[in-house]
Amino acid sequence: MKLVLLGAPGSGKGTQASKISGRYGLPHISTGDIFRENISAKTEIGLRIKRIIDGGDLAPDDITIEIVKERLSAKDCEGGYVLDGFPRNLAQAEALEGFDPPDAVIFIDIPLRKLERRLTGRRSCKVCKGSFHVDFIDDEKVCPDCGGELFIRKDDSTDAVRERFAVYEEQTRPLEDFYRKKGRLKAVNGDNGAEEVFAEIVRAIEGEK
Ligand code: AP5
Repeated sequence: MKLVLLGAPGSGKGTQASKISGRYGLPHISTGDIFRENISAKTEIGLRIKRIIDGGDLAPDDITIEIVKERLSAKDCEGGYVLDGFPRNLAQAEALEGFDPPDAVIFIDIPLRKLERRLTGRRSCKVCKGSFHVDFIDDEKVCPDCGGELFIRKDDSTDAVRERFAVYEEQTRPLEDFYRKKGRLKAVNGDNGAEEVFAEIVRAIEGEK
């Protein structure tokens, strides 16, 4: 099964992709995670994209498409994949159609105005990569799951979040129509708790809705 998770910044793509990956045994491929790993390892790609990503803009299509194409050709993707954060514009969606098109696109639908606080209050774990909201953890600096150090993503500042929303509206929003016209878009209500959203995704994937 080949799945794409589509949704605004903070809509819960990473959260749901990891649940889907656990349930169906699909590799979870997050372009955001791949870029952040490149940035922290100071690779050539990481150095090239750091400022772009920290400011909330999109990395260049040529680099992004190449990374995904190569990743999807790995052995662990033979049985499918769950893509989180790719494609993000029409050029990327067209490219994916050319090399490994998805069977279904799960669109996590939630109004942007509900998301700003989710992102500015997010703390991410350096070790297990989990993410948590300050409202629900005792210590803002210690991961409640693994004890690792929590940090604030640079692009979770208020200015960068607003830029990410603007980029989403302009470049990613058109993908809803792109996949709807292909009959592959499955929208779920993202304005629910993570477990409820996941249950709706499972129903959508297994064709019960
Ligand atoms: P990326 O890492 O993909 O960031 P994003 O799309 O902005 O998404 P987030 O990771 O912020 O949020 P999410 O939707 O995964 O939500 P999450 O589950 O974490 O990309 C980062 C950057 O990399 C981009 O801005 C761009 O620069 C670059 N990039 C990446 N892909 C690219 C591409 N294809 N092309 C070009 N550039 C690219 O949840 C958010 C928070 O909400 C968490 O704290 C979580 O605990 C909480 N939460 C989750 N679900 C719920 C729920 N149901 N109720 C309440 N809280 C919830």
